[in-house]
Amino acid sequence: MVQTTTTPIDKVNGTYNLSDYQEIRRNFNWQDATDLLSAAKTGKVNAAYEAIDRHVAEGFGDKIAIHYLDDAVKKSFTFKEVKDQTDHYARILLEHGVSKGDRVFVFLPKTPACYFAILATIKIGAIAGPLFEAFMEEAVRDRINDCEGTLLITDQDLVKRVPREDIPSLETVLFVEDIEEEPLKPVQGEPYTEWLDWEDGLIIHYTSGSTGKPKGVLHAHRSIQHHIVTGKWVLDIKDDDVYWCTSHPGWVTGSVYGLLAPLLNRATVVIQGGRFSAENWYALIEELGVTIWYSAPTAFRMLLSKGDLYKKYDLSSVRHVLSVGEPLNPEVIQWAWNSLNVRIHDTWWMTETGGHLIVNLPSEKIKPGSMGRAFPGVEVGILDEEGKELPSGEIGQLAVRTPWPGLMKEIWGNQNKFQSYFQYEGWYISGDLALQDEEGYVFFQGRNDDMINSAGERIGPFEVESKLIEHPAVEEAGVIGKPDELRGELVKAFISLRAGYEPTDALLEEIRLFVRRHLSAHAAPREIEVMDELPKTKISGKILRRKLKALEIERATKVTN
Ligand code: PRX
Repeated sequence: MVQTTTTPIDKVNGTYNLSDYQEIRRNFNWQDATDLLSAAKTGKVNAAYEAIDRHVAEGFGDKIAIHYLDDAVKKSFTFKEVKDQTDHYARILLEHGVSKGDRVFVFLPKTPACYFAILATIKIGAIAGPLFEAFMEEAVRDRINDCEGTLLITDQDLVKRVPREDIPSLETVLFVEDIEEEPLKPVQGEPYTEWLDWEDGLIIHYTSGSTGKPKGVLHAHRSIQHHIVTGKWVLDIKDDDVYWCTSHPGWVTGSVYGLLAPLLNRATVVIQGGRFSAENWYALIEELGVTIWYSAPTAFRMLLSKGDLYKKYDLSSVRHVLSVGEPLNPEVIQWAWNSLNVRIHDTWWMTETGGHLIVNLPSEKIKPGSMGRAFPGVEVGILDEEGKELPSGEIGQLAVRTPWPGLMKEIWGNQNKFQSYFQYEGWYISGDLALQDEEGYVFFQGRNDDMINSAGERIGPFEVESKLIEHPAVEEAGVIGKPDELRGELVKAFISLRAGYEPTDALLEEIRLFVRRHLSAHAAPREIEVMDELPKTKISGKILRRKLKALEIERATKVTN
């Protein structure tokens, strides 16, 4: 459980887009966020227009929108160039018969093409389905099948993981290599932009829970009201900032705070290609003069574990750092404060919430260990099992008063699942447990279900268990998150074997690779333990993940005592 009595770190003096939390909280109305968008004046909305084309129309076409950097390439694109590219992709999508509301999937590494493809999809009024680049065949298949995607944009490498014959709805596969080769056709104005309503679909993200396959969380265009104002106040974006969010757009952090929120705020956005390495990350900050940096606790812990490495780089450009996705330990905040001379501002939200709900603002004191306070316009409650609000200091279900603009529109094809978030009148139930102190600071206490959070990535135990039992040697499987210092949790599988199989290291490794090859690297169990029989409920024979988890926690406490 997280400490609630750490020493606060006061704000660093400076000028911030939001300078008085209490005052804004008293007076804020979501309509104020809508007014930041041109749609407020024209009555017509399109998120890609607001993020890119509007800035060109307003005279900022020459400003850098994207810096791309990987081991071999360094490239920049102005807002005008991004408009031209998204028009180019949009025209090709239209030529392939994509229309409003169609689901267009984008399966690409973190490159400018990935951003262009997502924005172009949105521009023509289709719904973008970004896929994480590490997904393997089944993860790709299940997602596209679920919402019947009709077109996929990918590359010659990743297409090897797209089992086309198992995805009947998929009519067209386009390759970025071909799109990039086709000459751009100059356009005037907005020939390809589809003007939409606030309730029209924007983007769909698949996310895991504790039961069933991943669910398609659909967001509407109204979410951009949430994105623009949180980009302004929480990310604190100003015109001369160089903004870097380390997440891939296949995850909601990468699409909302790596792409939409910063570009809506006319920021210069950094895209970093390639894998994580502490050296590359520090070098990137130095080379591009990153000023705002949004990442996750596991990444910060990895940097921390590299000790003095940071001293080799000039990181003085960084003025604002944020974190999301998993508990941010006070030690990490302290490390950043002592070594990098910056505070890390934790933020809390979920795929379903579409944007920040609990935040640490740069103008307010931080209480290390707390995720922060409710964003203006957001009311947080801690509820008991009957849905009644608990007083401060007590642990309960973390809930949020409905509605707000970023809140998901639906779970694709699953009204029951959607309704399950709203079982208490007027509240959204997050599935997290938390407490709130007298000043409104919220402290995360864990999940109320079996969902696993490893390195900030949400992993559903059911998906992993289903894959495990497809292996011929596996009789039964129970998957849990085992506490881990670096990753928060790691995926651990308990299995029993079918008759005739021996629990050799080679077999266990083969089983691990089986999940890795078919599902994804992050979902593959890092540990597999063989049991004669798994603990089950007496009546229904359901595997008791909670017992398995308790066993792990008991072992961990024995080791530390
Ligand atoms: O358990 C919470 C955890 O991540 C879950 C949401 O995961 P996902 O939809 O993948 O979105 C991640 C980024 C938006 C939450 O239910 N979580 C998110 N932020 C925090 C967190 N846990 C602790 N501290 C946070 N700041």
